[in-house]
Amino acid sequence: MKDTHSITGAAHTDRNHDSAIKHVTGRADYTDDIAQPEGTLHAYLGVSDVAHATLNGMDLSAVLAYPGVVGVLTAEDIPGVNDISPTGLNDEPVFPTDKIQFHGQPLFAVVAETRDAARRAAELARIDCAPLQHALDPIAAQEAGYPHVTAPLKLERGDVDTAFAGTANRITGRMAIGGQDHMYLEGHIAFAIPGEDDDVIVHCSTQHPSEAQHMVAHVLGVPSNAVVVNVRRMGGGFGGKESQMNLFCAVAAIAAKKYGRAVKIRPDRDQDMTATGKRHDFVVDYDVAFDDAGRIEAVGGTFAARCGFSADLSGPVTDRALFHADNAYFYPHVRLTSRPMKTNTVSNTAFRGFGGPQGVIVAERMIEEIAYATGQDPLDVRKANFYGGEGRNLTPYHQEVDDNIFDRLVSELEDSAAYRQRRKDIVAFNETSPVLKKGIALTPVKFGISFTATWYNQAGALVHVYNDGSIHLNHGGTEMGQGLNTKVAQVVAEAFQVNFERIKITKTTTEKVPNTSATAASSGTDLNGMAALNAVEQIKERLVAFAADHWGVAAELVRFAANQVHIGDLTLTFDAFIKQAYLARVQLSAAGFYKTPKIHWDREKGQGRPFYYYAYGAACSEVTIDTLTGEYRVERTDILHDVGRSLNPALDKGQVEGAFIQGMGWLTTEELWWDDAGRLRTHAPSTYKIPLASDRPRVFNVKLADWSENRELTIKRSKAVGEPPFMLGISVFEALSMAVASVADYKRCPRLDAPATPERVLMAVARMRDGG
Ligand code: MTE
Ligand code: MOS
Repeated sequence: MKDTHSITGAAHTDRNHDSAIKHVTGRADYTDDIAQPEGTLHAYLGVSDVAHATLNGMDLSAVLAYPGVVGVLTAEDIPGVNDISPTGLNDEPVFPTDKIQFHGQPLFAVVAETRDAARRAAELARIDCAPLQHALDPIAAQEAGYPHVTAPLKLERGDVDTAFAGTANRITGRMAIGGQDHMYLEGHIAFAIPGEDDDVIVHCSTQHPSEAQHMVAHVLGVPSNAVVVNVRRMGGGFGGKESQMNLFCAVAAIAAKKYGRAVKIRPDRDQDMTATGKRHDFVVDYDVAFDDAGRIEAVGGTFAARCGFSADLSGPVTDRALFHADNAYFYPHVRLTSRPMKTNTVSNTAFRGFGGPQGVIVAERMIEEIAYATGQDPLDVRKANFYGGEGRNLTPYHQEVDDNIFDRLVSELEDSAAYRQRRKDIVAFNETSPVLKKGIALTPVKFGISFTATWYNQAGALVHVYNDGSIHLNHGGTEMGQGLNTKVAQVVAEAFQVNFERIKITKTTTEKVPNTSATAASSGTDLNGMAALNAVEQIKERLVAFAADHWGVAAELVRFAANQVHIGDLTLTFDAFIKQAYLARVQLSAAGFYKTPKIHWDREKGQGRPFYYYAYGAACSEVTIDTLTGEYRVERTDILHDVGRSLNPALDKGQVEGAFIQGMGWLTTEELWWDDAGRLRTHAPSTYKIPLASDRPRVFNVKLADWSENRELTIKRSKAVGEPPFMLGISVFEALSMAVASVADYKRCPRLDAPATPERVLMAVARMRDGG
């Protein structure tokens, strides 16, 4: 029998984000919208105003005397362990007891009847401390003999020293790569409601509810089963809520248990920016040897990162920088080392790409260096070095690149963007334009998908079918705007062959799915989509067995199609069928599970298959700079990006566009700046410039590579999309570099650090003209 109609919201179809209308009409509930019980208290952090000091004591009498203040929390109020380090290194106290390690470090919390009272009282503390020397950036930290926050990683393949010695051309350089603030619209927040015995419920904005649960249990000294963490949605996370919510959840929960009242903590934007970690900035020393045609022979690189006072996620972040320092290119001989430096700054953390972007941009810089040195179009140097061909597929971590689609992807983009012709036109334009100069660049990205901590690559889901036929979907992933819930619901709708609207998407809660991983590493859909599908398959299997038995037909003749169930010649609506199954006592609920196959990683050896597969993309950007002011604008960007068989092309395109703009912001206007005293002076939108709508490319053509299909058995053959397109922003950076190079006739590769702010572009132009 042929189906005459289909379902709404199946996999591989465009569909709005399930909360799109609620987002724009203000009806989407965030943590701060939850109705507060009578007597709710408000907490606020009191922070240090020195970067490094011995902490002798705190006089909090004025804080306590402030009207409306109920009490204060210090390290002494922590019933369990005073540590919220996500890696168990015991290096991140909730509140320090003997040492201040960065300017803005939380030292205590005030609890008051109103948020305003807590906030004002927090300013009144007198901190008795003896200042120590501080080191703010990775170079100063190395000079001061500061330790690594975690063991460095080394990746090595081939015979690097011999290769360097035997190659005709060699370039060494140093590049500083800036960090980035997450600038989520909704800042950090936690709202704790105490229960009986040792119970507590925490509503918060986190990408990692299970970690928040375990941390709260840890600081309270209670088992994890006493703590429930709930997240309906976040107003953006971007990695900034993967571990950084631990502090706020811990403070809210400790206060709630201490006072027996609900407690909410929500820092203002300045405190959110100063007290929580950001993207790591790096200083990278690179060394590249190549033949006269521009083919790379050997690469060396040392990646020093500003990790801040504790490890947080700096180990895996700096590892991922090394994993991506090859980007699209085969290095016959290679040695890469990370230097995760301790510094007296806030502890840096995950941010979209998780260190990968800092690796990729170094690969692209080396390509540009080679192009200028050999007088070639950088695109030709890129192509000459792509993975592919006999013996040219092994990464520095010894994983084979066996799904490479660069040839097709890049040549399609090259044609659709008319790269060659426009480059010629731009060179001609620059010859006749003394002040305005243009540049164009086409850059690729290859991004490895999976958590490098192999055990994180697991997920669970819980699906209930109620006896009226409505479906309740829960999984371990969190929604931060990326559309994860919509995609997983599409998978479930398709598997049951019912309309999307039949599925109720529910909050993420540690009560329903335990031991989840952070929604991170772009793997939310890959993992949770599979877990949800597994749950649906279990239920369907029971339903098919019931139908076959009940109506006496072969199991193969039971089919779910378009809101109906066909059982031989009998057709029932899904609702009527479910009612029959319920009456026959069929279990209509299942917990699903998934773990990613094939992956393994030996960090000691620096070898393995850390990634299940790669996602690919390429972007071509054209810019114009004003050589008198350094100001610039992006004239046009063309993107061709690979998401395998897209589960929802509309959402995926949104991810590609958003990631590109965020990547462009990282490399152009978003600049973090600490003064010599260690104060972050770019601590609010007044001093920290994210891209505006008016900064987007004047012409913006974004396409998905709709011919691509994941070779691996991922959910419906799709690929992860959240992070990989972030690195497409590098095309803007390299286009700016070309515009700068034009003032000295493209003879030298401009030394350009990131972000290429107008100020840096202007200085680079001046250096170019001076021959420096
Ligand atoms: N998109 C929106 N709108 N908001 C976000 O916070 N975070 C990004 C990306 N896209 C983010 C986003 C990051 S850092 C990651 S790792 C992925 O989404 C996480 O979600 P996913 O695994 O479901 O793609
Ligand atoms: Mo994304 S940085 O992995 O949260």
